[in-house]
This record gives sequence, C-alpha cells and structure tokens, in this order.
Amino acid sequence: SSSLCSYTYDQYKETADWLLAHTEQRPKVAIICGSGLGSLADLLEDRAEFQYENIPRFPISTVQGHAGKLVFGKLGGRECVCMQGRFHFYEGYNIHTVTYPVRVFFLLGVETLIVTNAAGGLNDIYDVGDIMLIKDHINMPGFAGQNPLCGYNDNRFGVRFPCMSDAYDRDLRALAKQTAEEQGCDSFLQEGVYCMLAGPTYETIAECRVLKTLGADAVGMSTVPEVVVARHCGLRVLGLSLITNKVVTDYDSKERANHSEVLKTTELRTQDLQKLVSNLIAKM
Ligand code: 6GU
Repeated sequence: SSSLCSYTYDQYKETADWLLAHTEQRPKVAIICGSGLGSLADLLEDRAEFQYENIPRFPISTVQGHAGKLVFGKLGGRECVCMQGRFHFYEGYNIHTVTYPVRVFFLLGVETLIVTNAAGGLNDIYDVGDIMLIKDHINMPGFAGQNPLCGYNDNRFGVRFPCMSDAYDRDLRALAKQTAEEQGCDSFLQEGVYCMLAGPTYETIAECRVLKTLGADAVGMSTVPEVVVARHCGLRVLGLSLITNKVVTDYDSKERANHSEVLKTTELRTQDLQKLVSNLIAKM
C-alpha cells in the first residue's frame, strides 16, 4: 500500500506502543474535544500529558496558541484519554490524518469514543446553547469522495464495507438522556442528525436550505470522519453537538455566522457539557 495516501498498521502500532510504554493508564474511553470545549481535559485527575509533536508519528496541530496534546487521566472515576485539539479537514490535513488518533485509541484498547463539537442549528426548534445528542450523520465529504476508509482495507481494523446505520450507540444515548435529566440539563437537550461539510466557509443561505431539506438538524466541520473510523474498528460512539449559533436561511436576515459567536456560546455551556460527559462516564 506504499502507493496509497494512507497509513500502515505498523505506523498506528508504533504510536500506540510508544504511548503504552510511556503511561501505565489503560483507558477504555477516548474523548475528542471540539472547538472551545477542550477544557474538559483539564478536569482529568492523575494526568499524563503528551504534546502531539512528542508522540511518534502523531500528526501535529496547526492551530496557533493551542499546542494540541493527548491527556490520559481519570474522569468520572474512570481512566480516559482525551484529545485536546483535533485535526480538521479544512486545515489541509489528509482525511486519513484527521482520523489517525482513532486507530491509535483502538490499539490502546479503547472501547468507547465520545466526540464533542460546535455546530450550527438548522432545526427551527433548536436554540443557541442547546446540546444535541447525535443520533445519525450525513457524511457530505464522503459523498464527494473524501471518506477516511477509501484506500487499502486492513482487516485487523475492520471489514471492507462497514455498516453505518447503527453508528451512534442507542444505549449510550439513553444513558446521556438520563444523565442530562439528573443534572437538570434536559430542558436544553436535543437529539438529531449532524451534517458534516468540509468548511472552512460557513454555509450560504441556499446551502442551509438544502441541508434542512436533506434532514439535517445541525451542521459542522468535524466529527464524521472520526466516527466512521471508530465504527469501522468496532468502537461504541457517543456524539454531542453544542448548538453555538443558528444558521441563516432568510435573505432579509442581518445575522452572519462568525467564529466569535461560536466561541461565546461554548463559554456559556462548557461547564454543563463537561458535567454531562463526566457524569455519563461515571455511569458507564
Ligand atoms: Cl453555522 N456551520 C458550520 N459548518 N460549522 C459550524 C457552524 C455553522 N457553527 C458552528 N460550527
């Protein structure tokens, strides 16, 4: 497969073995933190941190001021590994690079992946600040030939043609709903379909209308490639979108999607989301 733009089993294995040799923790849960939601990693106890640039073969973050790191530690009483800073396709990474960490998690012995992201709300009943449990996704880059499973299939990770109709674990979603009720978050908990676009542009009005017609409830620029690779290798997945803004579908609107609005909402809800994730892990 040297002529293909993907990685070999041995490359992922080298990264995993290095990590296993540098920490005694053996997490069963991995968490990928979305934009503005990385402070979850700060809550981990008995931490072991690894800057991406110090991990053999690991991709390196381009986002300035935010050196990405992998944090091992306990959350909700359980050993977890948390990515503080993910790799986005719009940054120019190859789709296989975006998902590199997921296969490393699999080789570490991780069984469950929790992914968070910031997303634009398409569903009219959603409010800014709502937390959406992802029940399904639309892989738009996949439609356009950017599926991370394109290329050689190594059966040690999974089958050539994996099922995606059960991508977001029903039991984990039920547990998340129950947890949200217990902590008083249920008034702003939603469940819906996440659509990934490559970005980095926000959607035009016509594009937002298309996405609504297609059945999407929220739109973002991440998560789906990682989920596809996680399901391929049999990880259970829970996805949480924070609705940071409502998309514009009206030509008379003066609203304009922008990154500072996204970050403002993540600040508002980051505590609730962190609590939800840690309380949920404690119940797993
Ligand atoms: Cl409105 N669109 C996209 N593509 N990603 C987002 C978003 C909107 N809001 C937060 N992330």
